[in-house]
Amino acid sequence: LFKMACVAAVAFVPSVAAAACDDGEMVIKFSHVTNTDKHPKGIAASLLEERVNAEMNGKACMEVFPNSTLYNDNKVLEAMLQGDVQLAAPSLSKFETFTKQFRIFDLPFMFANVEAVDTFQNSDAGQAMLDSMQKRGLQGLEFWHNGMKQMSASKPLITPADASGLKFRVQPSDVLVAQMEAIGGSPQKMAFSEVYGALQQGVVDGQENTWSNIFGKKFFEVQDGITETNHGIIDYLVVTSVDWLDSLDADVRDQFLTILDEVTQVRNAESTQTNEAAKADIIAAGGEIRQLTDEQRQAWIDAMKPVWTKFEGDVGKENIEAAQKANA
Ligand code: LMR
Repeated sequence: LFKMACVAAVAFVPSVAAAACDDGEMVIKFSHVTNTDKHPKGIAASLLEERVNAEMNGKACMEVFPNSTLYNDNKVLEAMLQGDVQLAAPSLSKFETFTKQFRIFDLPFMFANVEAVDTFQNSDAGQAMLDSMQKRGLQGLEFWHNGMKQMSASKPLITPADASGLKFRVQPSDVLVAQMEAIGGSPQKMAFSEVYGALQQGVVDGQENTWSNIFGKKFFEVQDGITETNHGIIDYLVVTSVDWLDSLDADVRDQFLTILDEVTQVRNAESTQTNEAAKADIIAAGGEIRQLTDEQRQAWIDAMKPVWTKFEGDVGKENIEAAQKANA
C-alpha cells in the first residue's frame, strides 16, 4: 500500500524527483510552496528529506513537493486532516482559520529582527503555541525562520502616502489586511503561487515579502523596486496531524522528531544569511532596492503600528509584552 502511494505521487507530479520508496516504508509527504535552493524553507525541507531518507531507510521515506506542486497553502491543512499529506510548513499567517494566536507574528513592527522572533518562540508562551491547534487536529512541531518583510510596488514607496490607493497582495491574514488599509492600500488575499502573475498583469500593484521570496519567485522583475522596510516577519510552523503523529511507533516518532529538531537548529541559524544572499542576488539581477532614512521609516511605524490595538484581544497583552521584551 505504501509503495502504491509513492508510485501514485510520482505519476501525478512527474516533474518532482521523488525519493524511491521501498516496500514497507512509511511515506511522509511534505508539501510546501517556495523554491528549494537559496531559500530558508526550501533548503531546510531538502535537508530534512535527505536525512530522513538516509537515517530512517527501511522505516520511512520522505518526499518533498516544493513550489505548490502538490498543494497551495490554502489547501494543505485540509489535505493534512484528510491524511493525504503528512507534513507542511505554511507561514504563520496561514493558520487564521485554526487559531488567532499567531496573529502576533503578523503585527507590523512587533519584532525587531529574527533573533527576537526566535527568543519569543522559545519562551513558554511561544512553545505553548505549538499545541494551540490540537483540538482542531493539528500539531505544531517546530518553528522555522524565514526573515523580515520588505515592501514592493509598481512605483517607488518612500512614504506611507506613496502606498495610498495601491492594491496589495496579502497572505490570508486579517492583520495584514488591516496593516495595508492603515497605509491607504487595498489589500487582496491571494495564494503565493498566484502573486507573480497578479503583479505582472496589474491585478495587484504591490506586495510584501522576504528577500528570499522576492528573489525566489522573481517578484522584483515585475515591480518598480523594493523598499527595505523590515516592517514585519515571515516565519513558519512545521505542522502535522495529531492522528498521524499518534499513529507512529514511539521509536520511529522519536527518531523523526530528533532529526527534525536538529535540522531546525542548523537551518534556523542560517536564515538571515540566506536572505542577505537573496538580497545580493536581486541587486546582481538588476533589481532596485531603496533604503529609508530613520525619519522615513518612523513614518511607516506611525502609520502601521496603530493596528496593534485592534488585535490586542486576540493575541493577549502579555504576549505583546513578552514579544517586546524579546526585542531588547
Ligand atoms: C507567502 O505566501 O507570501 C509566503 O507565506 C510564502 C512562503 O511560504 O514563504
